Amino acid sequence: MGDLTPQAPNPAYRVAPAAPPTEPVRDPLGATVRLIRWGGALARHDALIPREITHLLPGWFRPIAGFVHLFAGKDGRNGRPGQRLGRAFETLGPVAIKLGQVMATRADIFGIEFARDLGRLKDKLPPFPTDQARAEVERSIGRKVEDLFIDFGDPIGAASLAQAHPAYLADGRKVAVKVLRPGVERRVVKGLDAMRLAARLVHRFVIPARRLEPEAFVETVARSMYLELDMRLEAAAASELHDVMEKARADGMMHMTSPKVVWDGVGKRVLTLEWAPGVPMTDPDAARQPGLDKDQLADNVVRAFLIQALDHGVFHADLHEGNLFCQAPADLTAVDFGIVGRIGPAERRYLAEILWGFLTRDYPRIARVHFEAGYVPPHHSVEAFAQALRAVGEPVIGRAASQVSMGRLLGQLFEITALFDMHLRPELILLQKTMVSVEGVARRLNPDHDLWSAAQPVVERWIMRELGPRAQVRDALKEGLAAARALSRLVQDPPQPQTVVVEHTKPSPWLGVGVGVSVILSAAALLLSLWPGILG
Ligand SMILES: Nc1ncnc2c1ncn2[C@@H]1O[C@H](COP(=O)(O)OP(=O)(O)O)[C@@H](O)[C@H]1O
Ligand SMILES: [Mg+2]
Repeated sequence: MGDLTPQAPNPAYRVAPAAPPTEPVRDPLGATVRLIRWGGALARHDALIPREITHLLPGWFRPIAGFVHLFAGKDGRNGRPGQRLGRAFETLGPVAIKLGQVMATRADIFGIEFARDLGRLKDKLPPFPTDQARAEVERSIGRKVEDLFIDFGDPIGAASLAQAHPAYLADGRKVAVKVLRPGVERRVVKGLDAMRLAARLVHRFVIPARRLEPEAFVETVARSMYLELDMRLEAAAASELHDVMEKARADGMMHMTSPKVVWDGVGKRVLTLEWAPGVPMTDPDAARQPGLDKDQLADNVVRAFLIQALDHGVFHADLHEGNLFCQAPADLTAVDFGIVGRIGPAERRYLAEILWGFLTRDYPRIARVHFEAGYVPPHHSVEAFAQALRAVGEPVIGRAASQVSMGRLLGQLFEITALFDMHLRPELILLQKTMVSVEGVARRLNPDHDLWSAAQPVVERWIMRELGPRAQVRDALKEGLAAARALSRLVQDPPQPQTVVVEHTKPSPWLGVGVGVSVILSAAALLLSLWPGILG
């Protein structure tokens, strides 16, 4: 096996992720009213202080929890806490929906089941009238709809922020015109104001929840929403990813395409893309297309994602069936560029190192990488960390299986790192989440799909480039491959002891947040007298 001497630590590793600057609460009174309304909806769904955590509460707090439970309606009786919270968020508009989506990406904080349940929340609303959409297009672009499009049709899909209409250009090309909901910006600003107030109150009154950095969390949500509220930025992302996919095609690695941006049809509130060929993968007809090669399609989605992320450092971060179109035999087109992930060279190298470490079962090496990167604070022991990594990797070594989920492997790694106070860069979490989602798409196309075979050519090329020298890596990779295949057990059969450890640590933050929100409600009068201090 090749000697891969550790290289000098990359200083870029040590840069802590910048916390977004906190913005003030603009309308405290409006925010309070809105927060109380949110509290009411959560209580109705029994998602404010879920009954499942009552036994964990201190004795003095239980009567308050009992009081809140009186408000639970029939929506609060069915389902697990994550499902109930998701349903409550669906009724509360775009900011709550976004908050739910972001929380669903944080299984490291909220637990796996809770995050997965919350992730099923639906971003669907009744459409607004086509006439209003036409008016929005004219206002945003400053031209008559008739000058831009022929046959501007009724919406094909409506979500909390925008809806999409089919239309044709004068040259006959079919396009999709995505239009923001009228007045959605105002709703978002008000919703964010309420969330900022909630975060401030939680920070001030619920000490255990401070570790979760509620204010930074809200700013992360806010930033991602501001980006999604400017269609020019989504157009830029669509165009950048289109270029990346074209480059991959030039390299002979064409696994996915994306529609071209029609720049004449782009404004702050309007985005026009060429119509995606094929059938949306959410449509049952997609799977019935004659001559569809599902296995190849599954390979394509995995490879396309890896090439974007690892080779180009920019990736479509919302890859689910709703945003993918397929056409026989195995053509894949992605739409919806609202969320784009970026990983810099330092993170890519970090990923190469950990993947390599698992392939070669070199746990001390992976541990060292984490310390050198400054991800794990130096007061922890490298050896203890290596032991925890072994708990992730070893249970799967030596067991034959055909499926490797890198996404879940990374997810488990990230969970274990949380026990070592590791602050992960958000882009790595986004990458890991997207990987899990991509692997889910592939698995649903073909339950027996061999994820590792799909990923192997891309990952091998990338590890060789990142970790050279080439020949040594190639030899070692061959040796590691047999073991790597066995890593797939993680997908089906996660190691129990680690899960138990992680779950024991979970209730407190959730509990903290629940307690915090209830404190807000039950002490509203007191808080009004604290405004100057809170807002200052
Ligand atoms: N270029 C396109 N071609 C065909 N259909 C599209 C295109 N862009 C969007 N759509 C359709 O409109 C729906 C909503 O668009 P999308 O960009 O995904 O918005 P959202 O952010 O609301 O999910 C998509 O799920 C897809 O069915
Ligand atoms: Mg979409």
